[in-house]
Amino acid sequence: MTKDLPPIIAWDNSWSIGVEEIDEHHQKLVSMIQLLFGALITAQGADYIKGIVNDLIDYTKYHFHREEEIFEEYGYDRIEEHKQLHHELVERVLEICKLIIEKGGTEDLGDDVYRFLKTWLADHILEEDMRFKEFLDQRDTPKDTHAASSGECHS
Ligand SMILES: [Fe+2]
Ligand SMILES: [Fe+2]
Repeated sequence: MTKDLPPIIAWDNSWSIGVEEIDEHHQKLVSMIQLLFGALITAQGADYIKGIVNDLIDYTKYHFHREEEIFEEYGYDRIEEHKQLHHELVERVLEICKLIIEKGGTEDLGDDVYRFLKTWLADHILEEDMRFKEFLDQRDTPKDTHAASSGECHS
């Protein structure tokens, strides 16, 4: 594989969507992808790689499920589109993970897997999950600084 890979994906505060649990999940997903990529480029054993891949799939499903629950709790208006995107992402990650497992992680998969996972995760978080932050920001911006929030009746 080539030696000129881009820097490994890294979480930083600009990735925060403002809900602690979701941010923690995203950090964990980034670490899992780093671990997987590290294992691929150092040609770790197939069983080890298979274990990481399966953990990544399980954690991804768990994360998407929780994220959807949280979005529902907040009354997010794009929930259905977001669920569909999650569904497609799971399908795609299953495909690439199947390929990794079939090849035993020893073939020339590193570049493709890296690019796929980086795009798969980073694009989704930074574009789609980030729309939820915009939703929260808009929701929490008072239109009138003296607006009543107590639910009192207007005369
Ligand atoms: Fe997410
Ligand atoms: Fe998401």
